[in-house]
Amino acid sequence: MSPSEKVYNPSKEIVKRALIKSMDEYHKLYKEAEDDFEGFWDRLAKDKIDWIKPYHKVLDETSAPFYKWFVGGKLNVSTQCLDRHLDKRGDKTAILFEGEPGDKRAITYRELSNEVNKAANLLKNQFNIKKGDRVVIYMPMIPELPVAMLACARIGAIHSVVFGGFSADSLRDRIIDATAKLVITADGGHRRGQPNMLKPVVDEALKDSCESIENVLIVKRNKEKVNWVDGRDHWYHELINDESNVCEPEVMDSEDPLYLLYTSGSTGKPKGIQHSQAGYILWAQLTMEWVFDIQEDDIYWCSADIGWVTGHTYILYGPLAVGTTTVMYEGVPVHPDPGRWWKMIEDYKVNQFYTAPTAIRLLHKVGPDEPGKYDLSSLKILGTVGEPINPDAWIWYHENVGNKKCPIVDTWWQTETGGHMLSPLPGATPTKPGSATFPLPGIFPEIMDENGNKVSANEKGLLCIVKPWPSMLRTIWGDPDRYVSNYFSRAKKNGKPVYFTGDGSIYDEDGYIWITGRVDDVLNVSGHRIGTAEIESAIGHHPDVAEVAVVGKPDAIKGESIFAYVVLKTDHPKETLTAGIKEVVTKEIGPMARPENITYVPGLPKTRSGKIMRRLLRSVAKGETITQDISTLEDPTIVGKIQDSMKH
Ligand code: PRX
Repeated sequence: MSPSEKVYNPSKEIVKRALIKSMDEYHKLYKEAEDDFEGFWDRLAKDKIDWIKPYHKVLDETSAPFYKWFVGGKLNVSTQCLDRHLDKRGDKTAILFEGEPGDKRAITYRELSNEVNKAANLLKNQFNIKKGDRVVIYMPMIPELPVAMLACARIGAIHSVVFGGFSADSLRDRIIDATAKLVITADGGHRRGQPNMLKPVVDEALKDSCESIENVLIVKRNKEKVNWVDGRDHWYHELINDESNVCEPEVMDSEDPLYLLYTSGSTGKPKGIQHSQAGYILWAQLTMEWVFDIQEDDIYWCSADIGWVTGHTYILYGPLAVGTTTVMYEGVPVHPDPGRWWKMIEDYKVNQFYTAPTAIRLLHKVGPDEPGKYDLSSLKILGTVGEPINPDAWIWYHENVGNKKCPIVDTWWQTETGGHMLSPLPGATPTKPGSATFPLPGIFPEIMDENGNKVSANEKGLLCIVKPWPSMLRTIWGDPDRYVSNYFSRAKKNGKPVYFTGDGSIYDEDGYIWITGRVDDVLNVSGHRIGTAEIESAIGHHPDVAEVAVVGKPDAIKGESIFAYVVLKTDHPKETLTAGIKEVVTKEIGPMARPENITYVPGLPKTRSGKIMRRLLRSVAKGETITQDISTLEDPTIVGKIQDSMKH
């Protein structure tokens, strides 16, 4: 990726409707936060949140980096997303759902509120779920998924949504780590025209060490036959209509946990990122207004899966907090053909469309002319998230989907940040394809070198956030030490530990920020974040594997693909072995973590202290000529041997 020459300015039409209309207005807001940090957040929190009881302090830093925001405030996030809209927007569509087979549902705010209240009562009355209990949700992209999440929020239970692509082993690990009481799932969903079964995965997960789970609540979706455990398993549709549609919202503290979402780090097992109530919902709402410029009659669509943070914040919480209409789609973009998404944009007259670079690249590849077959003139703003977008994909998106008139908001953020951090503002920021441009007001990033000094233009450094922000993660569930060591031990400013993102980046000469990718051992495969350590651990469980190292290899569609170097215990027929290794990974993590390439090598390049030189392995995977100094390796001849193995 290299900084592109061309700058794209917002069109007059967009500026006219935009909430923030110029860089001057952006700078003014940014400066407000700079000059009076707490005053800035105080103003917004008072303005945007319906408090049950006001907070008495904006920010408590006494136990930093365990920051507390809006201390003493009481609220309920489901009320913020539903009840407060009912007078004005009760009959407005909240969710426009489309299933992969083509079934449709339009759910109004009132209907959604009724369903959430009933589900909240169901969790309380039938399953004894109380404030603070953990509920694991493993569901397809159907409306009962947001209903389940909001029902948890209403009664103060902490939800932990597990992406439907994770295996039984991964699901079990998350259930155990969270000591969840209940699993909410479905028989299955629809994917690529096939039933995508989920209940059997839950059954498999619960076979072992999940004593905390008392019940499983199952939504009927694809009507496939499922196994049944009497006493433990319950159909949602058989119970829900016995419940009242009035459930008093639990009074929650600003800092009570709202949800956990597990994500990968560079070492060890996935970490349960813990988000709060007030700070999270405030930022979800504000970024919907600033970045997507949501206005009353807009139809908004984020194509992510709710199993990831993008879906949490930008399909559910953000859109409902601002009272917009959020589109939700169950399936894949290429079923039954590569025009599916463009047809949906035409059908629903979508105004804001938010997706991932990997999807843009895929749709460009399989159907470059497809967008032209549909009326996409309703589109006003396009968004991307999840990985750096290459300028080619950006330009195709801009020209063919946005018809050269829609600004593209390239939003940089993470599971940990809760919401957007760097992003253009559609009516203000001149964009450069491939750059997430500038921080949002209230967000203070700094690109630092290893010594904590701000880097100069065009010099690569570590992206850090030097002040706390309301929607930041609060801790890692059950592991506060790891929270500190993962995020607050690498960089300091004025002697104070600051948040380290794990990403490398540069400023260009105009101050635009360009993300260069992870600097830790975390891969980004089709926008899915996977730690190399997790994949290595899975592969290491194969009985024939002695040692393994996994690196990312650039991939034209997926961004990165998984490349595994495997040292075997014995010589073994390679064909069945490769399939067997992929199978272990599928079982332990899920199909998205399966290595694309497995190369059998006689050894791994290690320093004399035993550290694997991954940089070298990345270069070899790319087929680059090795220019690095390999004399410090324990066995410098190993590099040539590995390169030889790649030829076979
Ligand atoms: O490396 C960055 C990349 O995705 C990582 C966060 O992954 P995850 O927690 O799964 O959240 C993804 C959705 C918010 C980041 O550390 N990333 C995310 N957005 C961008 C990005 N890289 C470049 N440009 C982006 N817009």
